[in-house]
Amino acid sequence: MTTLSATALFAVTSRGLEEICAREMARFGLTVGEIAYRRVHAQASGELRPQHLRPLLALSTADDLFLEVSRWSGISHTRAALETLRELAEQLALRPALAVCTQLRPIDRRPLFSVTANFVGRRNYSSEDIKTALAVGIEASTGWVYTPDDREAGLNVRLFIEHENALVGVRLAATPLHRRSYKEEQRPGSLKPPVAAALLEMLALQVGERLLDPCCGAGTILAEAARRGASAQGGDIDAEAVAASRSNTENAGVSVPIELWDARSLPLADGSVDCIACNLPWDRQVAIDGDEAEFYAQLCAEMERVLVPGGRVALLTSKPELLTFEGLVCQEQVEISLFGQRPLITLYGSKGDC
Ligand SMILES: C[S@@+](CC[C@H](N)C(=O)[O-])C[C@H]1O[C@@H](n2cnc3c(N)ncnc32)[C@H](O)[C@@H]1O
Repeated sequence: MTTLSATALFAVTSRGLEEICAREMARFGLTVGEIAYRRVHAQASGELRPQHLRPLLALSTADDLFLEVSRWSGISHTRAALETLRELAEQLALRPALAVCTQLRPIDRRPLFSVTANFVGRRNYSSEDIKTALAVGIEASTGWVYTPDDREAGLNVRLFIEHENALVGVRLAATPLHRRSYKEEQRPGSLKPPVAAALLEMLALQVGERLLDPCCGAGTILAEAARRGASAQGGDIDAEAVAASRSNTENAGVSVPIELWDARSLPLADGSVDCIACNLPWDRQVAIDGDEAEFYAQLCAEMERVLVPGGRVALLTSKPELLTFEGLVCQEQVEISLFGQRPLITLYGSKGDC
């Protein structure tokens, strides 16, 4: 067993967003190391003090962030692994991680803890079996009490098993980072906030820039953009979506003008926005009115009209082949997993080549 320093962290993100999450982590001052499937490892330089830790909780493209506690090897797929896991859990040095988390929120010295377990590949045991093995080992060595209900836990221990290797972390925040308290209203096809944030990260959205989401749904992109300090505005053709996005952005404590409109004919002046980010309607989640190719062509022409010369556009769709711009070119494209599909986020600007 290798016990690692409390300054080693790892983020968990959506498939396809690893590089974008790594970019954001570097922007937050972390030194990015290994980038694995749905995971980004990093080091925080120096001691982890509250003033260095607290900003990390604003990492927007990560589903969650963990202090790396240990790496184990030799975890077989047979049920004998459960006893190995219990023994390894008994040797875990969790107190340094508890001390780090206590800098961010009040936690009992003998906290209630939860365990989350994920594994890749077939095994003769379930994630519930893994949780029990870890819970028993940790309870025996620390005297802390296990709870199956993560909502009442002061500390969450997370285990990932891939092949014969396991990674153990302790969640830095009280709740997973992807959970945003502002997002009370949902709409069909509504984005997970870290995916919305990834569009903005790809745009390299700056404080004060004017950002438009012309088909805003429940307003996730708008809320994320305004929280980053952009001057966001948006709209939707559906009155219920407009109400939902107004409510969510209000919950987020940001002021965002949101209108009922048809994005094919926007009530906006030529060259009036710096950036556009949009999760376009596509047939799987949100039906398109009329012919799909024509709808996309009209939408692209309108987006290009309202964009300033030199502006940037980040669009998420499973139909990027239908996106046609006169003066904008593809700068970057990433495929992600979403709603059981593999849509792409495409970044357009005035120069570049995908
Ligand atoms: C995939 S959803 C957007 C979800 C949003 N990003 C979120 O996180 O909630 C697509 C949205 O496009 C809207 N829409 C469809 N056709 C439109 C049009 N012609 N003009 C404006 N909005 C439209 C739909 O009503 C739907 O809310």
